[in-house]
Amino acid sequence: MLDFQWMSPTEFVFGHAAEEKVGTWVKEHGYKKAMVTYGKGSVIRSGLLDRVKKSLDDAGVPYVEMGGIRPNPEVTSAREGIKIAKAEGVDIMIPVGGGSVIDCSKAIAVGALYDGDVWDFYDARIDKTPTEALALAVVLTIPATGSEASNSSVLSNDELDLKAGTSGDFNRPKVAFMNPELTETLPPYQTAAGITDICAHIFERYFSDSPDTPVSDGIAIALLRAIRSSAYRVMRDPHDYEARAEIMWAGTLAHNGICSRGRNEDWISHGMEHELSASNTKVTHGAGLAVIFPAWMRYVCKENPRRFVRLGAEWFGLVTTGDDLADAYTTIDRIQRFFLDLGMPQYMDDFGFKPADVEEMIPRLLQNRGGKWPIGSFMKLNEDDVRAIYLSAFKPADAE
Ligand code: NZQ
Ligand code: ZN
Repeated sequence: MLDFQWMSPTEFVFGHAAEEKVGTWVKEHGYKKAMVTYGKGSVIRSGLLDRVKKSLDDAGVPYVEMGGIRPNPEVTSAREGIKIAKAEGVDIMIPVGGGSVIDCSKAIAVGALYDGDVWDFYDARIDKTPTEALALAVVLTIPATGSEASNSSVLSNDELDLKAGTSGDFNRPKVAFMNPELTETLPPYQTAAGITDICAHIFERYFSDSPDTPVSDGIAIALLRAIRSSAYRVMRDPHDYEARAEIMWAGTLAHNGICSRGRNEDWISHGMEHELSASNTKVTHGAGLAVIFPAWMRYVCKENPRRFVRLGAEWFGLVTTGDDLADAYTTIDRIQRFFLDLGMPQYMDDFGFKPADVEEMIPRLLQNRGGKWPIGSFMKLNEDDVRAIYLSAFKPADAE
């Protein structure tokens, strides 16, 4: 087991009507002025925004608000929010939404206490780390990114045609309000993309070059089991509270770091996916992962097929045949089947990409990964490997 230093300082207020406790929490913790942020309108339509604002009013907490943050959030929204936060003397951010709203608010939280441009923290070439940030109190509406407790934030920069992240404990929210009922209004596609993203966060940790770590591996597989059974339930019945709750909590644990203590992590599939949603902002992160992850797995599994064999046996109950590589491919087929069952896409073509687009993605991926080949942990990848993985995710000529 590798040495580690880890904290997950986020407090969780989980369950029915959690969002009604926001105002009291903020007041009791001594914050003076909040900034409520949200996306393109789902929280207005559902009435959630009004409930959060009422809880702030009832507790006597003043606030300003900023809506309109798009999926795959853009740095200009963060810049706009930073101006408001600075002018209004905000000391706590309250994102009400999913990963996009939370990540943009994380950027506002660091940018509000910084004199330069917030993109400095996201540009891998500048490699600047924030030293301070405003507090964050998240109201989560979609289980997916784990941003409600994660140490990362991802922003797009349309001008530079980049999507990039920044990581550090400064990004970890102080508190997350998580009411599974809020997720019942999600379109099925978003529910499915969220579930895929949650699985991907576990894969990025389970598949690295570290030897087996029974505690962390066991947590990872237990989460995947619970996610899969709850996923089928929730796709059948969107109002299945228990299934929604299991998925929501699994989404947090998949990405707060608990299932990779003592292990390296990989994150190349995420890097490759971010180039899809950077090129085409209509690509939902989880849907992109449903295409990229199986392609990456098929390419790299020969490095250590036994990790796949174990996952196949313990997650899907597959019976081993003694041929590790064949069993690894069977496991990957089952993983892709699971994503397809949820309604996720299978090929790059499904987003409208052409093989030639890959040549633009590769240099940006490398730039975001520090500018030097090879990249990755489970298997060290060079440019040709990455190209081969992307191209293998296009629909074969003989596919139905
Ligand atoms: O904008 P609104 O109108 O709110 O609609 C959103 C959006 O269209 C909608 N939605 C959210 N909750 C809803 C709802 N609709 C109805 N009912 C609800 N309860 O869902 C759509 C997607 O929302 P978004 O926030 O974009 O989804 P997600 O949580 O998947 O966030 C994706 C972003 O997070 C980044 C991704 O790259 C992407 O930019 N990630 C952030 C990570 C992190 N900070 O740790 C890690 C991830 O790997 C990921 O990279
Ligand atoms: Zn993700």
